[in-house]
Amino acid sequence: SSNESTHMEKTLAMIKPDGVFGNYTDRIKNAILGSGFSIFKEMIVQLDEDSAATFYAEHSSKSFYSSLVKYMTSGPVLVMILEKENAITDWRALIGPTDTHKAKITHPHSIRAMCGLDSEKNCVHGSDSTQSAQREISFFFKDMFAGGVATEHDEL
Ligand code: PPS
Repeated sequence: SSNESTHMEKTLAMIKPDGVFGNYTDRIKNAILGSGFSIFKEMIVQLDEDSAATFYAEHSSKSFYSSLVKYMTSGPVLVMILEKENAITDWRALIGPTDTHKAKITHPHSIRAMCGLDSEKNCVHGSDSTQSAQREISFFFKDMFAGGVATEHDEL
């Protein structure tokens, strides 16, 4: 339950194919737990083209879209629901900027600085808003919200 001083939140985290293949899973999980998150659920998934395209549908007009979809189907990903106060913002801060070249300079202790390669092979994903956290958690963990849409009471 929540009150004014504590608001537990859930967010979707993903270790992308380069993170899984590069054997960064344990280091990333250590960073997650060391930063006060708990891992509420986790699952290894092999995305197919349709599911990757749907997951990234908001970027369908971008020049990098087809490359991103292909990359995201190139191997298994590890999806996790992380839980913590301010989980959405804090997980985005922990992973660092999209472009790992920038991450290495401006956020050297971030996860992307540790294991990413560029803006595509950037090791991890994090939901960027309450809305996207809800959508992305439901995308992978369909039984999370019986009846479909999550409400305030689901504490997302
Ligand atoms: S944007 O344009 O600001 O919305 O894009 P951004 O938030 O930076 O990135 C959205 C996701 O697209 C991926 N991305 C790319 N993939 C391939 N090539 C290029 N150039 C590229 N630029 C961005 C990026 O890794 C983001 O993936 P997620 O999983 O959401 O972090």
